Amino acid sequence: MKIETQCFLAFLVLISIAACATAGSDTRSVELDPDPVKRGARLYQPRCTECHGSQGQGGTGPSLVQSNRVARSTQAELVKWIAEGSVDKGMPQWGSRMKPQDLDAVALFVKSLLPPVEVRPKSR
Ligand code: HEC
Repeated sequence: MKIETQCFLAFLVLISIAACATAGSDTRSVELDPDPVKRGARLYQPRCTECHGSQGQGGTGPSLVQSNRVARSTQAELVKWIAEGSVDKGMPQWGSRMKPQDLDAVALFVKSLLPPVEVRPKSR
């Protein structure tokens, strides 16, 4: 193998290591964001928009902005719900895929999506 080829290959290896390091720092910056709601938003986008929409408006999954469960649950109850999911009905169990502090942040973000007025159930 010519020395130029060897140098080129070494260069490629370095580039891929650099690319991996950058990808890694992306998640780190999410963890380090001091604002948990913003952190929650960044965690929400790739995981939850697919079913609940980017603003929680709903899609294949129910709306989170018009959800009595979201409106009435305490932060702890909401975290527990997101962690346990509702696998039979298509809501994944996030507890095994997200760290506790990330579940906490994503739940805070979901709460932040609620309209400022209280959501009342239709049955009342
Ligand atoms: C593959 C689709 C899918 C994804 C992805 C998903 N969900 Fe869901 N989610 C659902 C479905 C379906 C339900 C309704 C389950 C039920 O009625 O029992 C639901 C219900 C919920 C509820 C309760 C709403 C209510 O009124 O009962 C919350 C809160 C929620 N999801 C949050 C999240 C969060 C946060 C994420 C991302 C971390 C997420 N979901 C990702 C499908 C999904």
